[in-house]
Amino acid sequence: MQITVIGTGYVGLVTGTCLAETGNQVVCVDIDENKIMCLNNGETPIYEPGLETILKRNIQLGNLQFTTNLKEGISNTDVIFLALPTPPKEDGSADLSYLLNVTHELVNLIQSYTVIVTKSTVPVGTGDRIEDILSDHLESDLFDVVSNPEFLREGCAIEDFMRPDRIVIGTSSNEAKEIMMKIYRPYVRQNNPIIYMDRRSSEITKYASNSYLATRISFMNEVANICEAVDADVDLVRMGMGSDSRIGKRFLFPGIGYGGSCFPKDVKALLNTASQNGYDFQILDSVNSVNSGQKKILTKKILAHFNGSIQGKSIAMWGLSFKPNTDDIREAPALVMIDEFIKRGAHVKVFDPEAMINVRRIYGNKLIYGINQYEILEGSDALVIATEWSNFRTPDFRYMKNLMSQPLIFDGRNMYDIEELKSLGFNYECIGRNSGLTLGINQGHHKLSLAS
Ligand SMILES: NC(=O)c1ccc[n+]([C@@H]2O[C@H](COP(=O)([O-])OP(=O)(O)OC[C@H]3O[C@@H](n4cnc5c(N)ncnc54)[C@H](O)[C@@H]3O)[C@@H](O)[C@H]2O)c1
Repeated sequence: MQITVIGTGYVGLVTGTCLAETGNQVVCVDIDENKIMCLNNGETPIYEPGLETILKRNIQLGNLQFTTNLKEGISNTDVIFLALPTPPKEDGSADLSYLLNVTHELVNLIQSYTVIVTKSTVPVGTGDRIEDILSDHLESDLFDVVSNPEFLREGCAIEDFMRPDRIVIGTSSNEAKEIMMKIYRPYVRQNNPIIYMDRRSSEITKYASNSYLATRISFMNEVANICEAVDADVDLVRMGMGSDSRIGKRFLFPGIGYGGSCFPKDVKALLNTASQNGYDFQILDSVNSVNSGQKKILTKKILAHFNGSIQGKSIAMWGLSFKPNTDDIREAPALVMIDEFIKRGAHVKVFDPEAMINVRRIYGNKLIYGINQYEILEGSDALVIATEWSNFRTPDFRYMKNLMSQPLIFDGRNMYDIEELKSLGFNYECIGRNSGLTLGINQGHHKLSLAS
């Protein structure tokens, strides 16, 4: 099949590359000339495990092309996937201008029957708006508009696309349904379901899924906070809860709040849709505010430890991306902490295996950038762990202790064994486990207030 993907970011590039991998002829279009130049040279502009190999293979096979020319990109195409950004506006609603502007461009270019598929995460009713724009200029038998939300996770996006838990397709057109089935058949060989529904339900499904996952995270963060207050251990509670098959083990890890380009924006967009429709989505309001509070929790612990002032302190940070295996720093908790540390006069030194370039673009020379995780520990008063990259799982603690001016770790991802670190002489604070320090056992340490 001839397929065009418009928007070649995290979703568009993975979608285009994986669709080429199963033998389709794919053209990816983007307005970013540097990105397209880089892709035409077989280089990936983002870090995503496994992507570069498939990308190079399909460019060589002639299945995958990149262009900035929309007209050229959609000539002879059967299906157009829209993988354009839908960032949040001031009021939390999704900015649809990218999507709608491209739709206006398409009306002059579509000449034969084309299925237009929304891969972007869009509020309910967006498919109707796209259809209205197209209908104003084109005969109705020239197009169908389908909702096909993307559920891939950055960091394992290729695996998620090639072997999805499910594929959701929202359309009432049989012709479009047949085409979508043909495209996705190679990805559901293990009987993972393709779920067909109406377009509006499909649009809501994406928001409901992400909002539910965000809810689980905020819920567990609150459980962790209450565990700290009552001297219980969230790790044990998590295991006790997760063994219940109705609950399940995944997404029960507490931390320093969710980030990324999806959860924060999708929660806000669903809240906005609810309020636009006269509904007060109370749980989501709390999910959002709990998350904002949780992003500050480690800073509070650090301030409590240093009697309220980190002026002149040297703070090292491991991990900057919003989660491991990606260079994406959008809404990353690390950035909230960095802003606060800088504001309070600390010297901040950072290391991340993949996200340093993106962070340097924002902070320039306000930060010191390490060439490895140990270099930034030299003379540091504290180490903060913001992302659970595997490189940080079993570090050389003795070496770290020698490098640091004091052996103090604030771990936002609960990576280490409390007893082991204690026996090595570290002060170690984490999230919701009985680490002693947060309970004010060590003399001179302030008790942590959980009020945000
Ligand atoms: N990133 C994820 O993990 C993820 C997962 C599921 C769904 N989504 C959704 O998918 C959509 C895209 O997200 P993303 O993370 O890939 O965004 P992104 O910002 O990484 O990529 C968007 C791309 O669109 C390009 N673009 C902007 N205007 C254009 C135009 N007029 N023509 C052609 N290209 C244009 C940009 O240059 C950019 O390369 C969003 O709605 C997002 O919510 C994202």
